[in-house]
Amino acid sequence: MQSNINDQLEARRAEARAGGGERRIAAQHDKGKLTARERLDVLLDAESFEEYDIYKTHRCVDFGMQEQVIPGDGVVTGWGLIDGRPVYVFSQDFTVFGGSLSETHAEKICKVMDLAVQNGVPLIGLNDSGGARIQEGVASLGGYAEVFWRNVQASGVIPQISVVMGPCAGGAVYSPAMTDFIYMVRDTSYMFVTGPDVVKTVTNEIVTAEELGGAATHTRRSSVADNAFDNDVETLLEVRRLFSFLPQSAREAPPCVPTPDPATRVCNALDTLVPASANQAYDMRELVMAVADEGDFHEIQPEHAGNILCGFIRLAGESVGVIANQPMVLAGVLDIDSARKAARFVRFCDAFGIPVVTFVDVPGFLPGTDQEYGGIIKHGAKLLFAYAEATVPKVTVITRKAYGGAYDVMASKHIRADVNYAWPSAEIAVMGAKGATEILYRKDLGDPDKIAAHTAEYEERFANPFIAAQRGFVDEVIQPRSTRRRLIRALALLKTKSVTPPARKHSNIPL
Ligand code: HXC
Repeated sequence: MQSNINDQLEARRAEARAGGGERRIAAQHDKGKLTARERLDVLLDAESFEEYDIYKTHRCVDFGMQEQVIPGDGVVTGWGLIDGRPVYVFSQDFTVFGGSLSETHAEKICKVMDLAVQNGVPLIGLNDSGGARIQEGVASLGGYAEVFWRNVQASGVIPQISVVMGPCAGGAVYSPAMTDFIYMVRDTSYMFVTGPDVVKTVTNEIVTAEELGGAATHTRRSSVADNAFDNDVETLLEVRRLFSFLPQSAREAPPCVPTPDPATRVCNALDTLVPASANQAYDMRELVMAVADEGDFHEIQPEHAGNILCGFIRLAGESVGVIANQPMVLAGVLDIDSARKAARFVRFCDAFGIPVVTFVDVPGFLPGTDQEYGGIIKHGAKLLFAYAEATVPKVTVITRKAYGGAYDVMASKHIRADVNYAWPSAEIAVMGAKGATEILYRKDLGDPDKIAAHTAEYEERFANPFIAAQRGFVDEVIQPRSTRRRLIRALALLKTKSVTPPARKHSNIPL
């Protein structure tokens, strides 16, 4: 008798695990997509997934829905482990009503969100959904809003990661949009508020789903998504990698990952990284990878605003957020996109106690009507605000140019970076020598010899780190090859940094 009951349990579980049935699973595979459960198998450590609410069903009786009841109701929820660390998960099952969100589907997601916040455990959502369950109307909209509200409550408390692995339409995009990171899958995932048909009706634009909301659109242009990869498996493995840099919650430090890479490793190649000519580019990624433990750099938004690099590395096993101007793209200038990209990254690091290392080679803010009309003042202020507000350890290395307002913004001493280093090649000034000379010596503009002499004099006087060092704005001028060791020593000392922010409800960052 007992074994009969146990067998029945297995039969019930098997029914739920079958989701929308073989035909729909085959269709999912034909699109190159894994099923909701197969995805969790890739994301989580083997045998670690524990499912909740596998028997939960919808309560809808409209449109004949009482005849179509599938246990689990289109979303697989529960928790598992990534590298031995717990994580709550939900994975929408496109084979069940297109993964659409019913009231009960939302309740299942909300349950794991509440547990994640209560227990200080991150949440990862795998999204593959046709949006609101059309048959349920406002009950479904209410379900979405319950998820949205929880996303906001959880923000800055636990890391929230969204993976978009199929359609993500209408309100469904707003939950991912309020999480910390969005990863997409190339060619099979889409995010848009309204799909191509509605766009055509309203604006007369003819656009494909891929053009409107595919991975290329969101990782390059809109910056809605933080990265994209070729298929489900690669994407989920990259999510595991991202997860490895993050803490369980704002209450805990990120995991320390022991490394054979010596903290004192000298990087001789850095001594010749900066070219002799100030106008010649070099790849800042080389610097980031040279100092990182084992050269491992997990970049965020690598395809958007390439003039600034953001991402995670480890130094002596500890997670660090890196922000670095990239001279290879637009000479590393700060513009609207790069300021927004870096500001959000700094705020993430600050919220979760991840120290920030900034590598500076910035010729200033990008001039022009495009930028001014687009609000560079407000967007640039976001980065300034984020750095100034961040209380995590902040260490800055100026490799070459640190000109004008951009010098102030890029984690200068004045906005409370803790340790500021400069390489001997650093030039800290209001602007470059040529521009400065042309303003200061306008009367000599017709005489190239005089201008050349003035420029040389300006370079001699200002194109170095020592004026700033004399004032204490730079703590030490360091050999490029010793950068890794210097950073590790600085961050070790800053581990006990303690800052009390002013009492207030919250600041008012220029949004
Ligand atoms: C109920 C849905 C559904 C939905 C899809 N299905 N979307 N069921 N509610 N929203 C069902 C289909 O009926 C079908 O069922 C199965 O899922 C697979 O759908 P297909 O259309 O066959 O798949 P495909 O061709 O791949 O197209 C996927 C799709 C398309 C692009 C997602 O289904 C679609 O456009 N769906 C509607 C999208 C939408 O407008 N959603 C509402 C957005 S408004 P069977 O039984 O045949 O397998 C919204 C408001 C929220 O979300 C606002 C919150 C603030």
